[in-house]
Amino acid sequence: MSIPVAILISGGGSNMVRLVESMKGDHPGRACLVLSNDPAAGGLEKAREMGIATATVDRRDFKNDREGFEKALISEIDGAGAEVICLAGFMRILTPHFISHYAGRMLNIHPSLLPKYRGLDTHARALAAGDKEAGCTVHEVTAELDDGPILGQAVVPVLPGDTPATLAARVLEREHALYPMVLRRFLEGARDRADLG
Ligand code: GRF
Repeated sequence: MSIPVAILISGGGSNMVRLVESMKGDHPGRACLVLSNDPAAGGLEKAREMGIATATVDRRDFKNDREGFEKALISEIDGAGAEVICLAGFMRILTPHFISHYAGRMLNIHPSLLPKYRGLDTHARALAAGDKEAGCTVHEVTAELDDGPILGQAVVPVLPGDTPATLAARVLEREHALYPMVLRRFLEGARDRADLG
């Protein structure tokens, strides 16, 4: 029996595609749902093309009702039978209630070498600081933003002339290798950290 995995996105979903593609053969997981908070997210169409069930819960339909929004997310995720949740470019901040509902079974990918640069604009901040290396992190999600036990990192060099866009592209390539590697280990029960060179 494979473990049903839901993937939450807000945008193009390139990490989501890599995760879905990785879950085949003897992989312990299977993608059961791709869920977006934005009906215009390009990743939704890509998921449908791969034959994965999709759903949208539009934050704008809930106005100030964050609890209602998260209840709707939970209903889609649990309704799809998901046991593990992967945030993959999901651009909403989640409340402790939501996070505790999925305690110990929700992962996130963040485009920095955490604990450096939580939040947004990670690449611009790394460049402004003069960092020689940048990268990405997959971590378990806890109530603190972009915190929680680190499950894996990949490091890339910062090159002369890098802009936030060129650095982001180099990091994204490593995200595509890191997230599937970490998810597979996680589903196999590993909770220690495994970095990509
Ligand atoms: C990735 O850089 C991810 O780390 C960040 O948002 C981006 C999502 O890209 N949180 P994609 O939608 O997976 O292409």
